[in-house]
Amino acid sequence: MELKNDLLLRAARGEKTERTPVWMMRQAGRILAEYRAVREKAGSFIQLATTPELAAEVTIQPVDLLGVDAAIIFSDILVIPEGMGLPYEMVEQRGPVFPKTVHTLDDLNQLHIADPEADLGYVLDAIRITKKALANRVPLIGFAGAPFTIFCYMTEGKGSKTFSVAKKHLYTDPIFAHTLLQKITDSTIAYLKAQIAAGADLVQVFDSWAGILSPSQYREFSLPYIKQICDAITEVPVTVFAKGAYFARTEIGQLNCSVVGMDWNMDISETRALIPNKTLQGNLDPCVLYASFDQIKKEVKQMIHQFEGHPYIANLGHGVYPDTDPDKVRCFIETVKEYSH
Ligand code: CP3
Repeated sequence: MELKNDLLLRAARGEKTERTPVWMMRQAGRILAEYRAVREKAGSFIQLATTPELAAEVTIQPVDLLGVDAAIIFSDILVIPEGMGLPYEMVEQRGPVFPKTVHTLDDLNQLHIADPEADLGYVLDAIRITKKALANRVPLIGFAGAPFTIFCYMTEGKGSKTFSVAKKHLYTDPIFAHTLLQKITDSTIAYLKAQIAAGADLVQVFDSWAGILSPSQYREFSLPYIKQICDAITEVPVTVFAKGAYFARTEIGQLNCSVVGMDWNMDISETRALIPNKTLQGNLDPCVLYASFDQIKKEVKQMIHQFEGHPYIANLGHGVYPDTDPDKVRCFIETVKEYSH
């Protein structure tokens, strides 16, 4: 079945579009009262994420309520460790916590390569239900964390400003690090392929903690695994979003992916020059959405102007912040739709 609005897919493939497609990282959840009502009903984040009908419902909310050009499946990057045998908990006001963490090859041997249908079937069911309910209105984005970012959580056990526990392993036991990274990569490739088979129209890889690595460490511990994913996923366009990896833009631009995500630290004209042959996505500072409506319009127009002539998908430079006014979000989306061509 053909999509009614395929702007995002065409832009991802580098084709010309009538206007710039727009969606927002972390658009499902966080900012909408309608999301919080469903989450309340589910009881907890994990309950919501593992109940396919409810996950599908909150996936579609931003399409109806905000007017975005794509849905992104409601889940989390941490379902991969869970699927490998390392469960997480979501602690209110604090974020994810892993009761057990992984530090040695022995720990690693307790984990398995995730089997998508057996270990992550609830995400695949949510994708199938969402696809049906969306009735081809807009594309559905699947996603996974980049292996290095997942490695950070599996070793550190929680969020951190430095991830020094995780990074310590890169220096003290690189064999352990590479073995774990490979196991995560194998799980992620199988998982993304299953998401695509279930109906995902494109997939995004989130390397949220790329920016904590030096360029040489990034080349050794992150890029090769993202490369394996990009080489393996040939079915649909792949977006690589490596937050803070401005130092690796040239190498990311040479991956077998269709779209490169940008955060707001990355200068637009510089990035266009470094990555001339791929669609770019981003890169408005989410804090712009705290400004006045007039200021938001001005900043969005300026951003779109700077991307003019380059295949482009409008987005924020990272996920929308939870205390953002939904009307400011609508202003961002409407401005892209009105102003771009
Ligand atoms: O709209 C969407 O983008 C779909 C859903 C989505 C979630 N997490 C739901 C979620 C996506 C794409 C993610 C990705 C994710 N999760 C990333 C990569 C993107 C990024 O922001 O860098 C990371 C690092 C995580 C790990 C994670 N999950 C953290 C650090 C937290 C706590 C802080 C936060 O973001 O709220 C989560 C929890 C989480 N994941 C929530 C949601 C809606 C909030 C939980 C709740 O509703 O109580």
